[in-house]
Amino acid sequence: MAYILVLYYSRHGAVSQMAQLVARGVEEVPGVEARLRTVPPVSTVCEAVEEDIPAEGPPYATLADLRQCAGLAMGSPTRFGNMAAPLKYFIDSSSALWLSGVLAGRPAAVFTSTSSLHGGQESTLLSMMLPLLHHGMLVMGLPYTEEDLMLTKTGGTPYGVSHLAGIDNNLPVSEEEKRLCRALGRRLAKAAMMLGGGDWK
Ligand SMILES: Cc1cc2nc3c(=O)[nH]c(=O)nc-3n(C[C@H](O)[C@H](O)[C@H](O)COP(=O)(O)O)c2cc1C
Repeated sequence: MAYILVLYYSRHGAVSQMAQLVARGVEEVPGVEARLRTVPPVSTVCEAVEEDIPAEGPPYATLADLRQCAGLAMGSPTRFGNMAAPLKYFIDSSSALWLSGVLAGRPAAVFTSTSSLHGGQESTLLSMMLPLLHHGMLVMGLPYTEEDLMLTKTGGTPYGVSHLAGIDNNLPVSEEEKRLCRALGRRLAKAAMMLGGGDWK
């Protein structure tokens, strides 16, 4: 079955919760399933050696997961207004896919979580789009027909979904943020089906 790759990194769990909600939205669309994948942490000290499979949570993503997906939802915590290094590290390993142009024309969307409301949600989302545009992916946001974009007091942007986790990282994903995560997943899955669905493999 065609799948949307929900690729994310999460250290404290907020982006992980968002990824599961995006995946639920994907699976509300008939004929598509969500494939949740994470990436290992990276070290500045030395080449970290990780187990092939994480002790808990979804498996680590491979380039084959990316090559064969019908669409991509990519999530990262905000780190200094940008995506986290582990996810960037994985994306930086995708030049072979870029050279072959294999991801060109496939839909993609992004999501993030921050500690502070004005701590860079939009800059993170917009910068996460850049490598996807280099890959030729069709980057999607959320339209204001999603009324939660107007009602939210925390996260939620037209550039993708965001979540305000708070200074102690313990604010729950709000009802508006939850609905927006699911809406993003659904929108991506519908676009993937309209664009050829499983014919990407
Ligand atoms: C190195 C580092 C940089 C961060 N930079 C920002 C930032 O620029 N703005 C912000 O609001 N939060 C920032 N945070 C907080 C995380 O974005 C926030 O805790 C996020 O919700 C974590 O997501 P997770 O629970 O999925 O790991 C930073 C955290 C770390 C560790």
